[in-house]
Amino acid sequence: MRGLLLADKPFLLEMLDIEKSFPGVKALDHAQLQLRYGTVHALMGENGAGKSTLMKCLFGIYHKDAGCIKVEGREINFTSPRNALDNGVSMVHQELNQILRRNVMENMWLGRLPMKYGLVDHKKMYEDTKKIFTDLGIDINPREIIGKLSVSKRQLVEIAKAVSSNAKILVLDEPTSSLTEEEVNHLFKIMKTLVTRDVGIIYISHRMDEIQKIADEVTVMRDGKWVATKPTGELSIGAIIKLMVNREIENFFPPKVNVPGEPLLECTGITGKYMPTCTDVSFTLHKGEILGVAGLVGSRRTELLNTLFGTMTRAGGEIKLRGAAIENRSAGDSMKNGFALLTEERRATGIFPEGSITFNAIISSIDTYITAGLLRNSKVNSAADQVITSMRVKTPSKRTHIKYLSGGNQQKVILGRWLLTNPEILLLDEPTRGIDVGAKYEIYQLIIDLAKQGKGIIMVSSEMSELLGICDNIIVMSNGRVGGVVKRGVEFGGIAGEQETILRLAAKYV
Ligand SMILES: Nc1ncnc2c1ncn2[C@@H]1O[C@H](COP(=O)(O)OP(=O)(O)OP(=O)(O)O)[C@@H](O)[C@H]1O
Ligand SMILES: [Mg+2]
Repeated sequence: MRGLLLADKPFLLEMLDIEKSFPGVKALDHAQLQLRYGTVHALMGENGAGKSTLMKCLFGIYHKDAGCIKVEGREINFTSPRNALDNGVSMVHQELNQILRRNVMENMWLGRLPMKYGLVDHKKMYEDTKKIFTDLGIDINPREIIGKLSVSKRQLVEIAKAVSSNAKILVLDEPTSSLTEEEVNHLFKIMKTLVTRDVGIIYISHRMDEIQKIADEVTVMRDGKWVATKPTGELSIGAIIKLMVNREIENFFPPKVNVPGEPLLECTGITGKYMPTCTDVSFTLHKGEILGVAGLVGSRRTELLNTLFGTMTRAGGEIKLRGAAIENRSAGDSMKNGFALLTEERRATGIFPEGSITFNAIISSIDTYITAGLLRNSKVNSAADQVITSMRVKTPSKRTHIKYLSGGNQQKVILGRWLLTNPEILLLDEPTRGIDVGAKYEIYQLIIDLAKQGKGIIMVSSEMSELLGICDNIIVMSNGRVGGVVKRGVEFGGIAGEQETILRLAAKYV
């Protein structure tokens, strides 16, 4: 098929008029996707639009209520993921479903472990894994316990696993949410090689810039429905967004109405105990300030937040809150001091999947709803309503189990949970990861409003545009240390200069 024009390439996969309902939600309503041989097809839509559900119908996790799925012209209905894999369809899921205590290679071959004389053949498993990693240029020890790896490395293992099955159809559901730029480029190279072998790839991502780099065609969904399919070259980012949200988005960032005031938190020489960690980090956070933390992935920004919050051990340094020394030796201690931490890996570490949205929303502020020893349901319910409304969580009801929400909507509930604790200092680790363009604006608005109320916010982000869009000042971390601080709007001659300075400082100690 090489050399053929896009429109002449035949369809490898056709999903036509797919319908799927869950109690209270019509998740797919005549959804449609046609993937051509040897192409990358981006599947776009807001949080809850039905992207993951459509892919799960293909992969045999869900059974469609109606519609037709054809692979290479033949109608199929995979009964399970195993069945899909056996027929050349492979998927990297939005959530990482890994067994954290097991090592990398066991996670790679789970369900298809190589056997010899009735026993698992560890030697073969090691060699096969090593070979795949070498082919893909991935530098991870197959014997490492997976729970010890960073989220980005864990995501790479999932990608390698999917690629290793030699599928003809590969589904990547937000595979790059935690990857570094270098890793993303690397993944794109792998995808380009697969495409030359006529593999068809369905690619889901909320990172707009990626779509134009990698996708041949784009399908946009809204509210479970097919909206449009077009060659990427015919669509600007603005046009894709308009199709997704059904309105023009003029501004990506709300007006900044917060004004930083007096010092709130003074940190000096913050150093973590166990490597890799942060070293000798000093800064001041003011009331009403949004302080960004920039840096490359691996620059220990997450470690800094955890060391401040007491979830990682601090070996040295001082934390002063309004002039008085505090300890923050544990999460409980820090919460009493008015801190909240939104973790980077919130879907893996922050969610009680079997709990309702209400439970997940109020769990960290539960004391506030108890009067005279009794849990006040009316207060609990109004708190849950507040989270759903203010974060625009898409759900049939607050009693719905959180595991049934789309990935982005789960994140919104967890962010809402921390807001209910009414913290004075918020530590946010990648607060908009996995959130769609429209909902990002609302999260920025919330952060700015909180700052306006006088709260202090420290926000780690890998998105330069959002750091420059809402932060008052930006600390740049480099290899665990402070490479420098960018005070906004003064010394660097506007946004372009600030961006350049951030990149330079991020590389200072690398
Ligand atoms: N197992 C389920 N039970 C009930 N509702 C579900 C289930 N799975 C998905 N849904 C609902 O179907 C809708 C579509 O969800 P889906 O996960 O497909 O969205 P998405 O487009 O992947 O969003 P995101 O960008 O946030 O990942 C949502 O309203 C979601 O709550
Ligand atoms: Mg999804």
